[in-house]
Amino acid sequence: TTCIVLGIPVQEGAGRLGCDMGPSAFRTAGLVTELRNLGYAVEDRGNIVPAPQREVRHPNGAIKALPETVAWTEAITEAAYQASGDGMPIFIGGDHSLSAGSMTGLARRAAEEGRPFFVLWLDSHPDFHTLETTTSGNLHGVPMAYATGLKGFEGFFPSVANPLNPQNVCMIGIRSVDPAERAALSTVGVTVYDMRAIDENGVAPLLDAFLKRVAAADGILHVSLDVDFLDPGIAPGVGTTVPGGATFREAHLIMEMLHDSGLVRSIDLVELNPFLDERGRTALLMVDLVSSLMGRRVLDRPTQSYRHT
Ligand code: ARG
Ligand code: MN
Ligand code: MN
Ligand code: MN
Repeated sequence: TTCIVLGIPVQEGAGRLGCDMGPSAFRTAGLVTELRNLGYAVEDRGNIVPAPQREVRHPNGAIKALPETVAWTEAITEAAYQASGDGMPIFIGGDHSLSAGSMTGLARRAAEEGRPFFVLWLDSHPDFHTLETTTSGNLHGVPMAYATGLKGFEGFFPSVANPLNPQNVCMIGIRSVDPAERAALSTVGVTVYDMRAIDENGVAPLLDAFLKRVAAADGILHVSLDVDFLDPGIAPGVGTTVPGGATFREAHLIMEMLHDSGLVRSIDLVELNPFLDERGRTALLMVDLVSSLMGRRVLDRPTQSYRHT
C-alpha cells in the first residue's frame, strides 16, 4: 500500500481558529517518517486548496462560513475520490467539516467498486446536524448528516450521489449530543456506542461486532478520528474538549484491532488545534495512534481474522 497524505487546512467549520495549522503539526510530529518506518511508501500530496467560492445564504442565520465550507467540500470530495484510487488516503485536518468531502469522495469510489461503504466514527460528537438544525452554526457539526444524505443540504452543498447508509456507521466515544441530533440518529439507525457502552463492555467487543459486519459485507472501511474522542487529559489540543473521553489504552486497542482487521482503506485525522496544544503532545499522540493503526505492535500474536465469507 502507498499511503497518500493529504493536508486539509480548513478551520472555518470550527468555533475557534487554529485548525488550519493542523496539517503542519501532523507533519512536524513525524507522521510521514513514522509511516515509512513501518515500511509503507508514502506520498505527501501537500495541502489542498478550496474550490472557488460562490455566494450562498441560508435562512438559518446561525450558520457560519457556508460559502467557505461548500468550497472546501467540493475540493475535498474530488481529492478524496482521486487519492482513494491511488492508495490509502490519510486526510490530515483541519476541522471535522472536512469529512463532508472525504466521506462523499470515498463513497463514490466504493460505489464504483461495487462494495458497501462503512465508517467508524471516533468522536465525542455525532456531528449529525443539518443546516436547519444547527444552533451553533459551526459546520464541523454537520458532516455525518451530509454524507448520509439527510435532507437539509439541497441547494447549498453539492448533492450527494452515493449517500452513506446510516446503518453502515458505527460511532464510538459519543458523549455530547444535541437534541436534534439524538432524534435524527435513532430514526436512521446509526450504531452509537456512548461512553456508558464503553464502560459497561469495554471497547473490544463493541468494535469486534462492527468489524465482523464490515467483513461479512465485504465492505470498505473508513475511519474518522476526531481528537476530542480522546480524554482531554491526554489530548488537550482541540477546541471542543469533552470530559470523560477515551483513554490512551482504549484508543490504542481500537487502533490495533483495526490494523488486525485489514479492513481500513482510509483515515481522517481531524480537529487538531496546535494553538491549544501543549508542546505538541496531542499531535504526537495522534501520530502514535496512527502507527498502531498501521501495524506497529508490541509483541507478535495470533490475530483474530476478519474475512469476507
Ligand atoms: N454539536 C455541537 C455543535 O453543533 C458540537 C459539534 C462539535 N463538532 C466537532 N467536530 N468537534 O456545535
Ligand atoms: Mn467531530
Ligand atoms: Mn468532536
Ligand atoms: Mn498491515
